[in-house]
Amino acid sequence: AAREPVYRIGFSQCTTADAWRQAMLAGMEKELSFHPNVQLQMLDARNDTELQRRHIQEFIRQRVDALLISPNQATPLADLVDTAAAHHIPVIILDRRTTSPHYTAYVGGNSLEVGRTAGRYAAQLLHERGQVLEILGRPGSSPATERHLGFVQALAQHPNMQLVAQLPAAWQSDLVLAQLPALLRAHPGVRLIFAHNDPMARAAHQVVQQLGLARRIRIIGVDGLPGPGNGLQLVANGTLQATLLYSPGGEEAIRTALRILSHEHYTKDNILVTMVVDSTNVQAVRGQTERLLAQQSDLFRQQQRWQQQQQRYNNQSLLVYLLLAS
Ligand code: FRU
Repeated sequence: AAREPVYRIGFSQCTTADAWRQAMLAGMEKELSFHPNVQLQMLDARNDTELQRRHIQEFIRQRVDALLISPNQATPLADLVDTAAAHHIPVIILDRRTTSPHYTAYVGGNSLEVGRTAGRYAAQLLHERGQVLEILGRPGSSPATERHLGFVQALAQHPNMQLVAQLPAAWQSDLVLAQLPALLRAHPGVRLIFAHNDPMARAAHQVVQQLGLARRIRIIGVDGLPGPGNGLQLVANGTLQATLLYSPGGEEAIRTALRILSHEHYTKDNILVTMVVDSTNVQAVRGQTERLLAQQSDLFRQQQRWQQQQQRYNNQSLLVYLLLAS
């Protein structure tokens, strides 16, 4: 049989220190298990844009066959997308965007839609009247910019909904724990908090509870991951009023990269769908994602068994060959 070409994919990841990024990587590895001819190398920029620049430069220097980037910030990494494109390296942008138009494909959610949906949901929940507080992701990262914009756009449809305070918390819960108490004391009328991800939403709940405000203030997050301590569970146990599904898309990213590498047809902008999960549908959504995960891990095990057999078969043929040759 003809050997499949070997591909090297470089993956510049802005951070690996949370469940969402780990789910993204797990999705990639699962998809890659079907393609032993593809090597993925990931470099973790630990939320540091300068470090991420060096990682991407290194991948370009190595002339990887494809580059996956989930950019920490949008503008400071745009020129490197241009550089990669100039070297004919396909660039697949994941989740967060850069401002360069020269990417080959994008895989991720629509954060403007996420923000708008959160705003509409908030207005409905509060009967179109009340004070809200927003906890933002890292300034200069596209989901933070877009979630904020969408949220404000939706609130603007309801003149009695007021965004009274904002807390830039860089996607991180420790900043919420440190700074939210003072902000809530300064704005005692707040009825709802929209946090740009579930870890920050969870920290907000902790603060709200400590201040004795848990009955008064509802919290909405984003991500909706399955698994202990993650969004779906937080909605199911009432910690969060709602979360917006925002899929990490690791599988889809690898599939897109492989289509590009093998010169198959691919879609440039792959937008993963979002939806509100609250107490009305959380059980159904959980059931579905858990079934899906179980099916996927079955598939994964089958795949591994198949590879082991293949390996054994290869070893056996080598043995037969050696015996015959001797
Ligand atoms: C994980 C994360 C998610 C969020 C996404 C936005 O690192 O903060 O929680 O939805 O990144 O880029």
